[in-house]
Amino acid sequence: MTRSESLFAEAVNYIPGGVNSPVRAFGSVGETPRFIESGKGAYITDVDGRRYLDFVGSWGPMILGHNHPRVLEAVKEACEKGLSFGAATEAEVTMAKLICDMVPSIEMVRMVNSGTEAVMSAVRLARGYTRRNKIVKFAGCYHGHSDAMLVKAGSGVMTAGVPDSAGVPEGCSQDTLTAVYNDIASVEALFNACGKEIAAVILEPVGANMGVVPPREGFLQALRELCTQNGSLLIFDEVITGFRLGPDGAQGYFHIMPDLTTFGKIIGGGMPVGAYGGRREIMELVAPLGPVYQAGTLSGNPVAMAAGIAQLTILKETPDFYGKLTRMSERLFDGIGQILAESKRSCQLNHIGSLGCLFFTDQAVRDYTLAKTADTKAFAEYFRHMLKAGIYLAPSQFEAMFVSAAMTEEDIDMTLAAMRGYFLGFHRGVSTLERCCW
Ligand SMILES: Cc1ncc(COP(=O)(O)O)c(C=O)c1O
Repeated sequence: MTRSESLFAEAVNYIPGGVNSPVRAFGSVGETPRFIESGKGAYITDVDGRRYLDFVGSWGPMILGHNHPRVLEAVKEACEKGLSFGAATEAEVTMAKLICDMVPSIEMVRMVNSGTEAVMSAVRLARGYTRRNKIVKFAGCYHGHSDAMLVKAGSGVMTAGVPDSAGVPEGCSQDTLTAVYNDIASVEALFNACGKEIAAVILEPVGANMGVVPPREGFLQALRELCTQNGSLLIFDEVITGFRLGPDGAQGYFHIMPDLTTFGKIIGGGMPVGAYGGRREIMELVAPLGPVYQAGTLSGNPVAMAAGIAQLTILKETPDFYGKLTRMSERLFDGIGQILAESKRSCQLNHIGSLGCLFFTDQAVRDYTLAKTADTKAFAEYFRHMLKAGIYLAPSQFEAMFVSAAMTEEDIDMTLAAMRGYFLGFHRGVSTLERCCW
């Protein structure tokens, strides 16, 4: 028995499913979770001393790789001064200014502790601002686990095979309307039916919780117009895309100004952080200034702020940071494309910037229904092959691969060699690969 196996055997006695978040479970890929002891740069090491090239990166925030020296130094310095005060600190002002400076749609921002909290608060604010109740979300988009958002919510619930959650009273989700990602007609139908009751449309501007599903050309623009015409707010949930697709997130990448934006883990550089922000006239409704109540004892925690400020400053000030990251990612995705072209497996490669996903299906994946055509057993086999080769992927067909700036050409080539072993070691012939790249 490995040490990970024995720790897991112990964990299941004390922690539901042995993990503190369902996406960490390895059940759907027929494996035991690896218990991670440390991370450095592009690699993590488990308690059995096995080293893996990490394409999860704590589900996005480790865009610089693990334990970047400047982030680590900032955290150490902050710790020396005290772990938490529950009082205002200068770091919170620095962080707020940094976010407002980097993201043009944000004039004011409130820090919270997770993406779930950020979305829950932004939705409450949108309802308070518009004095309407209904929210439109998209099937396959995940916005955290608050009650109203747990409707057709993507990867975690998909992988567990549970469509929605028990324990959510109907009353909590009755105002959550669901549309089809990349299908503007499905949103128009909702606006035609009850446009004047819709407080907000919320979406991941690039779907990253049903695998990676970029928006079709014109989709985000059409949503922007529909919201403006109907007096509804457009909320971009940039928990994954923020500061990953570029310094100004997906909204900068696609040139769309949402009314509110939510951020998560990436702005904490690995510490538990989230934030929501937007136009001043909307944000001024948040307590203590306005009537929309939202609070948090540990919000803006000084250690978390120190990590986040260090990380965002590096992202902002490193010349051509995103260009280099994208070129490294292209090396990976182009390589995967070539391998698949040589193999006879029907797969779809969706990717954008440093996010990518390989779907084991012969259908082009543009929404949740199409994502669900993927063969999860085939994914599980591929996952196990890659893990054995030292490549740590998310243990679910419906999650993204995150490329980090700590990865080198050698790392990418090693990944491609492992994939070549899987796809070409067993299968030779003509490919039916479709490659969707926006
Ligand atoms: C797009 C999106 N929104 C919200 C969340 C919830 O964030 P957290 O897990 O920090 O609560 C996630 C989590 O991955 C996410 O991907």
